[in-house]
Amino acid sequence: MRSPSQSVIRTAVFPVAGRGTRFLPATKASPKEMLPVVDKPLIQYAVEEALSAGASRLVFITGASKRAIEDHFDSDQELEHMLEAQGKSDVLNQIRSVLPSYAACIFIRQPAPLGLGHAVLCAQPAVGSEPFFVHLADDLIRAEVGCLRQMAEVYEAKRASIVAVEVIPRRDTDKYGIVEVEADKSTTSRVRSIIEKPKPPSAPSTLAVVGRYVLTPAIFEHLERIGRGSGGEIQLTDGIASLMREEAAYAYRFTGKRYDCGSKLGYLQATVEYALGHPSLGRDFRKYLQGMIRSPSMRSRR
Ligand code: UTP
Repeated sequence: MRSPSQSVIRTAVFPVAGRGTRFLPATKASPKEMLPVVDKPLIQYAVEEALSAGASRLVFITGASKRAIEDHFDSDQELEHMLEAQGKSDVLNQIRSVLPSYAACIFIRQPAPLGLGHAVLCAQPAVGSEPFFVHLADDLIRAEVGCLRQMAEVYEAKRASIVAVEVIPRRDTDKYGIVEVEADKSTTSRVRSIIEKPKPPSAPSTLAVVGRYVLTPAIFEHLERIGRGSGGEIQLTDGIASLMREEAAYAYRFTGKRYDCGSKLGYLQATVEYALGHPSLGRDFRKYLQGMIRSPSMRSRR
């Protein structure tokens, strides 16, 4: 099978080595990225978005307790034979299409969770000297045109690093990388400055970086040079700030809705909304929710 579109960006990096402490104990022995939203794990949504942006080389930066991710993208002959014998051809096709044959998976172990910047640096031997995507699977983005595909188009025009951004409430600036841009209202704007997790009163704006990036390979030498930053971790934000002393970087306001599936509330919101939009489940689930809202016990809880 051939790649759907020829892209100048053929590598996507998925840093999946974080410990997911906000989801403990669910994430003690299984990866956060394997949490399902309805019937697909987060990492599968991530891979599908990267493939539809033209990526064909998928680099997973893994850590402790992440074996299930590798297994998910491997073929399972025993399961396939069983489904075949049971005549369950629909499920069989779904299983077989998890990863198209043109895509190659590379797994690199991050020795310790030293931060997102360090995780990206671990991808260098697989990425080489080409631009690449970085996708954080716990930021699930629902969009007609996938967010990475939108960003690939911006890259074609700018030939520079790009971070996906959205406006957040000021009280939340200390949870994100925050950018200050040249033209505040534009969809794509050159980044003036970028800072990791500023306190709300000192944040230069409320434009937050979310989990999608296009990076030029020059980022690696900067990630090697910068030390530990906020939280004692090697921060990708600091690497981009250093890169910007040599190259332009752009902020892109993507079209779509983001769910922060690294938090329990965001994960539940994604689950409800994806279930409502699900082709075979949506109608019944909507009826169930409507019934629940109308029930006297729900009303008394409000
Ligand atoms: P988070 O900040 O969400 O951390 O990392 P986390 O460990 O996954 O989750 P919590 O906060 O403890 O609940 C953002 C992304 O960077 C990756 C994570 O896997 C996640 O996709 N990451 C983070 C790494 O790959 N390595 C690291 O050392 C840190």
